[in-house]
Amino acid sequence: MLKGKIHRVSGPVIIAEGMHGVSVYEVVEVGHDRLIGEVIGVEGEKAIIQVYEDTTGIQVGEPVYATGNPLSAELGPGLIGSIFDGIQRPLTKLEEVVGFLIRRGVKQPSLPRDSKWYFTPVVKPGVKVSSGDIVGYVQETEAVKHYIMVPHGVHGTLEWVASEGKYSIEEPVMRINGKDISMLQKWPVRKPRPYVEKLEIKQPLVVGTRVVDFLFPLGMGGKAAIPGGFGTGKTVSLQTFTKWSHADITIYVGCGERGNEMADALHSFRKLIDPKTGRPLMERSVFIANTSNMPVAAREASVFLGVTIGEYFRDMGYNVLLVADSTSRWAEAMREISGRLEELPGEEGFPAYLGSRLASFYERSGLVKAMGSPERVGSLTIIGAVSPPGADFSEPVTQSTLRVVRALYALDVSLAYRRHYPAINWLTSYSLYTEDVSKWWINIEPEYPTLRELFMKILQREAELEELVRLVGADALPVEDRLILEVARMIREDFLQQDALSLEDAYSPPLKTALMAKAIKLFYEKAQEAIKIGVPFEKVREMRVREKIARMKNIPFSTPQDQLITFFNDLYKSIIDEFNEITNEVESRVQSSRT
Ligand SMILES: Nc1ncnc2c1ncn2[C@@H]1O[C@H](COP(=O)(O)OP(=O)(O)O)[C@@H](O)[C@H]1O
Ligand SMILES: [Mg+2]
Repeated sequence: MLKGKIHRVSGPVIIAEGMHGVSVYEVVEVGHDRLIGEVIGVEGEKAIIQVYEDTTGIQVGEPVYATGNPLSAELGPGLIGSIFDGIQRPLTKLEEVVGFLIRRGVKQPSLPRDSKWYFTPVVKPGVKVSSGDIVGYVQETEAVKHYIMVPHGVHGTLEWVASEGKYSIEEPVMRINGKDISMLQKWPVRKPRPYVEKLEIKQPLVVGTRVVDFLFPLGMGGKAAIPGGFGTGKTVSLQTFTKWSHADITIYVGCGERGNEMADALHSFRKLIDPKTGRPLMERSVFIANTSNMPVAAREASVFLGVTIGEYFRDMGYNVLLVADSTSRWAEAMREISGRLEELPGEEGFPAYLGSRLASFYERSGLVKAMGSPERVGSLTIIGAVSPPGADFSEPVTQSTLRVVRALYALDVSLAYRRHYPAINWLTSYSLYTEDVSKWWINIEPEYPTLRELFMKILQREAELEELVRLVGADALPVEDRLILEVARMIREDFLQQDALSLEDAYSPPLKTALMAKAIKLFYEKAQEAIKIGVPFEKVREMRVREKIARMKNIPFSTPQDQLITFFNDLYKSIIDEFNEITNEVESRVQSSRT
């Protein structure tokens, strides 16, 4: 093992000398305590190293050992349900998550070595195999079948495969061209895992939040950001998405947020039940916690560790959702390291490579045809929270993020202040997946494109009218515009507002979402007709059925489809009946005045 010594210490950054032959991104062990670090620059025989553990007390002259390996993730059975820190050390106690139990230099394997997993082979020896081929599986939890794949770069004749039974992750389960291979794989976290090809996104990743699914759909395999000021609902939104999304596997990266918040999140996550399987949500989740109390350098690693694990499950053919809270803290860590390196700073002190580093994270999302047989398609969807200081979206991290993501959920301070949750601003948010997934939506509801367009038009018109209302008051507006304002309010309050804690409405299945939208459209059309034949606007505004529309969101999401349809058909009938009532009144008055 190559050995140099510490020349200079500057917080999490150290400079070591005598490091001939070491390369960038190589893992090193620093000091007598052998703290984990990564080489981030080489100048002659000097290496610049970022240390992933607390460097307090480290002295100039202490040894530095090179390992020859890049920073890698351990992949294999044992991942699901785990909580790791940024460099994949297992965290088992809540105190560790909070960051108060920082154990320096502890070398503990990421995945347990002593656990035995029940392996079932699915191929017979004698066949030719290559990278990505599925050789067998382990039913890791009730929800997750963990496929054991031929590691990347390995191909040849499968000479032997283990028979059904229990194995640890280090015991061989296959032999290819004379080489014994176990279930444990390693993969360098900064290197994207290979796939055959990226595919066009045609399906949404349903998250059960109406403003997302219906107005700004997230593509399955897509990349999105959720920027918002303090307290606008980033964490709640990400938790809601991970809880309810239709993904098979969820990866939650807590990056630089407060430790107690992360512990809370974990605590509540542990109690959550997966609505699809009725099993604990932890049984299809992986947690990575790098809280604000933990060394800053590891924040960067935590994000890439998360995507690597995500890609690994994607390669098995799963749909994976990764959320990162918050990418701003990660960017701040980058700024701190860059500052210590005395690099030429870019905007607001962030390094010039901020944009490309953010891109290298988001660009690992995608819908792909995975390598190996049997043929399979998997996806990795990424949503990153961004916390711009002062909720000012013009700052560098938000702006650089906007350049790479294809959907944006802009959280709005004034909406949060008015308790309009989720506080996703419908005027500034967007999704470039809308077209891609509209066929999928049309299958659920043929009117989807018209409904969505109508809602967007009414909401935009409302925003235009607001100024006028401030000047002259709503009563001075033409009756068509007053109707627009009423319907816009219905869209906002009865459709877009969705309480993340509601037992009935925290999740909105696509069908319920569509049927709700249709109720509002029906009301709007009937109201337009009524007004045209002279029904006074006040009559429309005070209709009893509006109360019923306001309550439609409370039909529980677990309601069976046929009952859901019956419920909404009844609602539509009530709308039509009451409109008939008030228009008949007007018509009979007109008639009696004629006779
Ligand atoms: N969708 C939602 N439903 C209900 N309450 C919400 C929702 N989103 C946010 N909140 C409220 O806002 C508070 C702050 O949200 P949080 O996600 O912690 O903000 P951030 O992470 O952006 O600082 C939450 O504690 C909750 O009371
Ligand atoms: Mg938060």
